[in-house]
Amino acid sequence: MPEPLRLIQVGAGGMGRAWLRTIATSDDVVLAGLVDLDLEVARSAVTGEVPVARSLDELAVEADAVIDVTVPAAHPTVSIAALLRGLPVLCEKPLAETVRECLPMVAASEVSGKLLMVSQSRRYFRVGTAFGRQLAELGPVGTLTCEFFKAPHFSGFRERMAEPLLVDMAIHQFDLARKLIGAEPVSVYCDSYNPDWSWFDGHAAANALFTFADGTRFSFTGSWCAPGQETSWNGRWRAVTAAGTATWDGDNPPVSEGLGAELPDEPEEIAGSLAEFVEAVRSGGTPQSEVHSNLVSVAMVEAAVRSAALGVPVLIADVVSDAFTQALDTVQQPELLAALKAWEDDLPFPLDPPG
Ligand SMILES: NC(=O)c1ccc[n+]([C@@H]2O[C@H](COP(=O)([O-])OP(=O)(O)OC[C@H]3O[C@@H](n4cnc5c(N)ncnc54)[C@H](O)[C@@H]3O)[C@@H](O)[C@H]2O)c1
Repeated sequence: MPEPLRLIQVGAGGMGRAWLRTIATSDDVVLAGLVDLDLEVARSAVTGEVPVARSLDELAVEADAVIDVTVPAAHPTVSIAALLRGLPVLCEKPLAETVRECLPMVAASEVSGKLLMVSQSRRYFRVGTAFGRQLAELGPVGTLTCEFFKAPHFSGFRERMAEPLLVDMAIHQFDLARKLIGAEPVSVYCDSYNPDWSWFDGHAAANALFTFADGTRFSFTGSWCAPGQETSWNGRWRAVTAAGTATWDGDNPPVSEGLGAELPDEPEEIAGSLAEFVEAVRSGGTPQSEVHSNLVSVAMVEAAVRSAALGVPVLIADVVSDAFTQALDTVQQPELLAALKAWEDDLPFPLDPPG
C-alpha cells in the first residue's frame, strides 16, 4: 500500500467540512493542514493537532497536493498559487466563474506541469454510472432531457449571484450531459429568469437547449425556487435513442425496457473524485475532469448565461475565443501569459458546428 498523499485543504465552509469528513475516512490521503481566510472557521473544523493558517504562504507544512474548496471567485487565486508551488490541485466546481478566469488556471497547470482536476462530484454516482452504461448499450442518444426542481434556502454567496442556478448548479448537469452523450457541445439557446416569489437576488430558474457535435439535443429545465414535488439533486433524466428510452430519477437505478441496471462497486460523490485524483497523481494519468476538458463545461455555463442575456443562440467556440482575447489583455504573470500566447494559433477547444 503506497504512503497516503499529504493534503492541504483550502476552504473550511459548508462544503469544506464535507471534504474534511471524506479525507478523514480515506486510507489514500491524510490532512496535513487547513487554510481559511477566517481562522476561527478553520480552527473549529478540525482538532487542535492539524496546523491551520489564513493562506498557503502562512502554512509551513510539507504536502503533496491541495484541495481547493473556497468560493468560486477565489478558485483562480488559490489554485494558481498552489500549482506554481509545484502542488497538484483538486478544485471544487465550478473551476471559476468565467472562462476568462479559467484560462490562466489552465496555463498554470501547463507551466507547472502539475495536474489541475475539477471535482465534478455528480460524475460519481453508482446509479448514474448504470444509466450511462444503459445509454452505451442503446446506442447514440438523439434527445437527452434533465428536469431539475428544488427549493433550497442557502445563505451566503449563492443568494447574491446574478445567475445562481446556471453558474453554481447547472454546471453539474451540463457536465454530466457531456459524459452521458460522449460528445462535445456546440451551441446553446437559453432563457433564464427569476420567479416573483424567488428568495434569490439573481435568476434562479432557466431553460437551456444545447446542440452537441454529433447532433444530440440536450435540454435542461430547472429552478432553485420550486417548492413541492422536488426532483433529486441530480435531476430527472430521459434519454431517447433509436433502440429505446432510458430514464433515471437521479436517486434510484435507471429504467430501460429489456436492460438491467447493475451498480458498480465504486466510491461515490466527492469520495469518487478524490479516488480518481489520487490515482491520477500517483500514475500520472489524465482524469476525466482534467482542467482542459472541464473548461468546456464552464464554457457551456457561460454560453447559456450569454444566450439568456442576448436572447439568441450562442456558440461555445465563440465564448472560448472571446475569453481567450480577454485573458491576453488581463493576465499579469509573464509565465502564464507566455503559455496563453503559445495557444494563439491553436486554441485548445476549436469546436465547429455540425454540418
Ligand atoms: N460538489 C457539490 O455538490 C458542492 C456542494 C456545495 C458546494 N460546492 C462548491 O464548494 C465550494 C465551496 O462552497 P461552500 O458552500 O463550502 O462555500 P462557503 O462560503 O460555505 O465556504 C467557503 C470558505 O472558503 C473560505 N475562503 C474564501 N476565499 C478564500 C481564500 N482566498 N483563501 C482561503 N479561504 C477562502 C471562506 O472563508 C469560507 O470559509 C464552491 O465552489 C461550491 O460551488 C460543491
